[in-house]
Amino acid sequence: MPGHTDLLSQIASYCRRHDMAESTFGRLAVNDGKLVSRLRDGKSVTLNTLDRLQAFMTDGAPGRAAPTPVNAGGSGAPVPATSARRPAPEPAPRPNNGSNNEQNNAGGEKNFRFFDNRQKYLMFVNTCSEKWVVANRVAMELAHIHPTPPAVRVFDAGLGDGTVLTRLMRAMHARFPTMPHYISGKEISLEDIRLALEKMPDRFNEHPATVLVLTNMYYSEAPWLRVRSPAAAASLVWHEVALEGTSSFSFEEQITELQPFLAEHWQAKASEKTGNPIYERPVVLVVYRRDHRFLLDSVIPKPGSTHADFDLVIASQPYRLRVPAAFKAEKVVAPLARALAPGGRLVGIHSHGNDPGLEIVRDVWPNEQPYVTNRHDILRAVKDALGSAHRELKFNAYSDARSIFRYDMHTLPNELAGAIGTSTLFAAWNAAIYVAQIEDERLSDVVKDGRYIDATAGVLRKHGGLWFNDETYVISRKQG
Ligand SMILES: C[S@@+](CC[C@H](N)C(=O)[O-])C[C@H]1O[C@@H](n2cnc3c(N)ncnc32)[C@H](O)[C@@H]1O
Repeated sequence: MPGHTDLLSQIASYCRRHDMAESTFGRLAVNDGKLVSRLRDGKSVTLNTLDRLQAFMTDGAPGRAAPTPVNAGGSGAPVPATSARRPAPEPAPRPNNGSNNEQNNAGGEKNFRFFDNRQKYLMFVNTCSEKWVVANRVAMELAHIHPTPPAVRVFDAGLGDGTVLTRLMRAMHARFPTMPHYISGKEISLEDIRLALEKMPDRFNEHPATVLVLTNMYYSEAPWLRVRSPAAAASLVWHEVALEGTSSFSFEEQITELQPFLAEHWQAKASEKTGNPIYERPVVLVVYRRDHRFLLDSVIPKPGSTHADFDLVIASQPYRLRVPAAFKAEKVVAPLARALAPGGRLVGIHSHGNDPGLEIVRDVWPNEQPYVTNRHDILRAVKDALGSAHRELKFNAYSDARSIFRYDMHTLPNELAGAIGTSTLFAAWNAAIYVAQIEDERLSDVVKDGRYIDATAGVLRKHGGLWFNDETYVISRKQG
C-alpha cells in the first residue's frame, strides 16, 4: 500500500486532470464525499478501499468509461460512467491517530487510545535501551548549537516518562555548566508528567540555573506557550513554583506537593472530533530555584511575553508510524521547525524497522508494514508544509550509516541460553508489538492460540537477543 502522500498526490492529479472536486472524487469512487479530507487528516483506508480508489482512477480514466467532469455542462451533476461499479458505503476504516495529541490525530472511533497504552509503554521503556540511546544521539547535537544569552534553550516535543530529557539535561550540564538552561517540554498525559517531574530534583541540585517549563499545549502552541483559541486562552492556568532550599530532598518534597495541582488541572478529555485526548484547559507549569530568581529573571517566561527560539528541539517518536508524511510534517515537525532559533537544531527520531523486532511481527502477520514513511519522505513533506520559509532551514537526512541506530532489549547474561523465561518472552513480544504500533484489537486472536510465543522465542534464539532500529534526521536553522 503506498503511503498516503502518494495516494493523495495521485488523487490530486486525477482531480486536476478531470477538473473534479475532491469531494466528488470520493463520492464517485467509494461513495464517500469526505474521504479525501479524512485521508489528508491522516486517517487510514482499508486495502479494499484502496483497491477501489486505484480501480476508479485507472478504469474510470477518460477514454475508458470516464466520469463526466463536474463542469462539463448539462445538469452539472457528475455522472460516473462506471456507476454500475459504484459501491455501497463500507464500514468506517480503523482510526489511525497521529499521536496522543489532538493535533496529529485523524478522526475515528471515540475514545480509541491504544497508542497510549500505559502498560506497554512503561514495560517498553524499562526493558529496552531506546530512551538511553536516543538521549545520547540528541546529546551529540550539543556540540553543534550556538546558544546566545540569556540561556541555552531546549524543547522536548513529548516528554514521555522524561528519561530522554533528564539524560540530556545531564549532558547539557557537562557541556554548558555555567549557562542558564531554559528547558521546556510538552506532554498531555498526567502520568507522564508525574514520571518526568520525579526525575527533576537532582537536576535542580546539580544545575541551579535551570528554568523548567511544562505544558499540555499542542505542537503549534507549546513552543511559544501561546494558545490559539481565545476560549481556551481564557481558561489558561499558569503556575509558577519557586523552589525553596538547596537540596534534592527539599526540591523533591516541593515537587511532590504539586500532585494535587496536577491532578486538578492536567486533565485530558476525548476530543469530540477525533476521540483522542486533548487538554481540558491549557496549563503552564514553571519551576525554578528561588535562590536563582535574580539571575534567571530574563529567562523565566511571563504570560503574554513568551517566545520559542530554541537551540535544540527533541522530536523523539512524536507521531504515529502509519499516518502520512504530509500529516506528520504539517502537524508535528513543521511547527517545531518554526520554533528554532538561528543556528538551532531539531532532532527527529522514529522507528525504522529492518530488525528482529519486525521479524517477530512478520512471523505473526506476514504482510505487516508498519514503517510507511521514512526520514526522506518526512523531510520532503516538511519542506512542502513550510513553503518558502524552508529556505531558512537545512534538512539533513544523512546516510543510512549515520542516521540509523540500534537499541536493544536488556537481557541478563545466559538468559537466552536454555529455556527462555516467560517474563523475557513477554517483554520481547511487548516491545515488538509496541514498536510496530499494533492495535490491541488485533492481538487477541494471536495471543489466544499462542502463536506469538513461538514467534518470539524463535527470533530471540536466532539472533541471541532482540534489537530494533531507529532513524534520525536533523533540521537546522541557518545562522542569522
Ligand atoms: C510517549 S510519546 C514519546 C515520548 C517521548 N518523546 C519518548 O520518546 O519516550 C509519543 C508516542 O510514541 C510512541 N512511541 C514511543 N517510543 C516508541 C518506539 N520506540 N517505537 C514506536 N513508537 C514509540 C508511544 O506509543 C507514544 O504514545
